[in-house]
Amino acid sequence: MNDEGEDGGADSTAAPEAMDGLAVEGCTRCGALVDSRSQIVNGDGPADVDVLFVGEAPGANEDEDGVPFVGRSGDVLDDELADAGLARENVRITNCVRCRPPDNRDPTSEELANCRPHLEREIELVDPEVVVTLGKVPGEHLLGRDVAVTNETGSVERVDLGGSPRDVLLCLHPAATLYDASQRDAFRDTIETAATMAGASGGQSRLGDY
Ligand code: URA
Repeated sequence: MNDEGEDGGADSTAAPEAMDGLAVEGCTRCGALVDSRSQIVNGDGPADVDVLFVGEAPGANEDEDGVPFVGRSGDVLDDELADAGLARENVRITNCVRCRPPDNRDPTSEELANCRPHLEREIELVDPEVVVTLGKVPGEHLLGRDVAVTNETGSVERVDLGGSPRDVLLCLHPAATLYDASQRDAFRDTIETAATMAGASGGQSRLGDY
């Protein structure tokens, strides 16, 4: 990976110019998001985890707290992580885009591309066993194809990310279970698959802190 990122543009091969360790600071790549954000919402969790969750973009709660998935979606995720034996403290959670889009709109393809080097660098540094995409937007962004996430949740694809081939596990967005409770079982099953892929299941520790 190129370490420069000098022009601040949408070069997905360039490392983030403003990344200090795992945190991005002072990024101004997306004018609209600089205007709409309160702060940059970096990934949350230890740097040496086996499971990295990737959501879409911060919402209002995350923009306020500066932490991904702290609203109602985060509660669903936390509950299912705990049931699968994956404490939130032992996974890392990040987003495709680190700044809240105005009115919670989807991030544009330009914003996704602008933020991609930050995500690539985070994946490279964390070097997880499995990357779990939460929802359609991150699934399509990382797989580079259309994703029917309701049908494809639980499926795994090998993708080059952060400089190496990685297992990407497609998962529903936790908010989908709030709109449609019948999706909860599929969401739970996929989180359990993530735990199994990471070597954790039923709270039985097979890998360090898991
Ligand atoms: N939804 C996301 O995709 N990311 C968050 O951080 C919160 C909600």
